[in-house]
Amino acid sequence: MKRLNVCIGLSNPKSPTNVGAVMRAAGCYRVDAVFYTGERYARAAKFNTDTKDAANKIMLSGVECLLKNVPYDAKIVCVDLVEGAIPLPEYQHPENAFYIFGPEDGTIHQDVIDKADAVVYVPTVGCMNLAATVNVVLYDRLAKSATTLANDELIRQSRDTNNKVKVSV
Ligand SMILES: C[S@@+](CC[C@H](N)C(=O)[O-])C[C@H]1O[C@@H](n2cnc3c(N)ncnc32)[C@H](O)[C@@H]1O
Repeated sequence: MKRLNVCIGLSNPKSPTNVGAVMRAAGCYRVDAVFYTGERYARAAKFNTDTKDAANKIMLSGVECLLKNVPYDAKIVCVDLVEGAIPLPEYQHPENAFYIFGPEDGTIHQDVIDKADAVVYVPTVGCMNLAATVNVVLYDRLAKSATTLANDELIRQSRDTNNKVKVSV
């Protein structure tokens, strides 16, 4: 079985549009698998915000308990506005991470927070949208990684086929 380095856990997500946007972020940032709890996503999954079809390439699994699906060598990183949490700009991401996010209309439960290896928050004014938070955390991981590949070939592979724009100076 493929080793899962980066996983996302969504605690009872409410909006399928958010889950779709999380899947798109998962594709962009090379996440290996996304797990979610609860029934609300499955009930209304017909909206399509995952326009890059990442859900067909990355495992998306409904599970009863996020904590029971953490790969054995992954660190549990809870992301929420929790007193005592580490500000994300100061955080060094583990190589193998299982990032857990709360629902749009709630917070990660205290018993999950108590099992975390780290709890981090983004020092925003007010809280962000769920999928926006996932994007910020994954970008922060990429920005702090020593092995990030960044070159024109990646731009050519990633952009729209009708985009031929170049920096001219
Ligand atoms: C809309 S928020 C829910 C409300 C949030 N639990 C609160 O207490 O304000 C949905 C989820 O996005 C994530 N989130 C949003 N803003 C965040 C922030 N500034 N720092 C860390 N996580 C955040 C958390 O995982 C949160 O559970």
